[in-house]
Amino acid sequence: MTATISTTRTTTHSTGAGADEGTIHLLDVSKVFGREGSVGAYRAVDHLNLDVAPGQMLALLGKTGCGKSTIFNMIAGLTEPTSGVVRVGGRDPFTEFDTFRGRMAIVFQGDRLLPWRTAIQNVELGLEMLDNPPPDRKERARKWLVKLGLGGHEDDYPHALSGGMRQRVSIARAFATDAQILLCDEPFSALDESTAGKLRAEFVRLVKENGKTAVFITHSISEALEIGDRIVVLKRPAMIAYDVSFDRDTPPEVRTLIRERIGKVLAA
Ligand SMILES: Nc1ncnc2c1ncn2[C@@H]1O[C@H](COP(=O)(O)OP(=O)(O)O)[C@@H](O)[C@H]1O
Ligand SMILES: [Mg+2]
Repeated sequence: MTATISTTRTTTHSTGAGADEGTIHLLDVSKVFGREGSVGAYRAVDHLNLDVAPGQMLALLGKTGCGKSTIFNMIAGLTEPTSGVVRVGGRDPFTEFDTFRGRMAIVFQGDRLLPWRTAIQNVELGLEMLDNPPPDRKERARKWLVKLGLGGHEDDYPHALSGGMRQRVSIARAFATDAQILLCDEPFSALDESTAGKLRAEFVRLVKENGKTAVFITHSISEALEIGDRIVVLKRPAMIAYDVSFDRDTPPEVRTLIRERIGKVLAA
């Protein structure tokens, strides 16, 4: 049995410039919207410590409004923390945003495709921004569309594709950049369950095959259990209530216990 169940917060970290590309490190991170102490100020993240190891697949689980997207945006360098330290691969994603081009790929809940570009042109977009030469980027874009089951749809415009197919295009776009880190904010929550289930399985396989570090945000316990090899359960305001790791050898009875525990933590 390899499941480790603990609520300990890890503080071991590496912030040096030589830190592994795939490391994510949050130390004592808080985010307050509005001016601290003023009326209407809201502490969305409260002294959060979180370390994600290279190659880890972390599911961040919590109810709507608990601060998941705020954490996500701080890791992605889109939001500045009010206090504390955020490091990705040893660098500050907010102040050194430009250096992260091609190192982090993001998949949002909506597919965020450009409607005037075909499927393949949407996948190529990320590569154009990385100054990839045209023949090479077309080839890579095509390869990833085929891997995601969209061979033959390269020249379709988004409006001609189903919701599930559009989200596959946005996943292909994320993988095509070869980024070491994948950040996903509820990417499948707008899809019907059978489509979401298929995409989840493909997504896990692709992340593992390509040795990426992934942070996957979800409000669904089942999705967290399917995706993560580690689940961090957040309680409002974005504090860690439960941190559990497991792997494919974890027996079903232990998974059941983990699921029950998560349910209790979320309900408390
Ligand atoms: N830009 C913002 N300004 C003010 N409050 C915000 C802002 N973004 C998020 N919040 C608040 O912070 C809390 C956490 O939001 P969010 O991180 O989006 O939660 P989640 O993704 O878990 O649903 C919510 O109460 C939300 O209203
Ligand atoms: Mg959110």
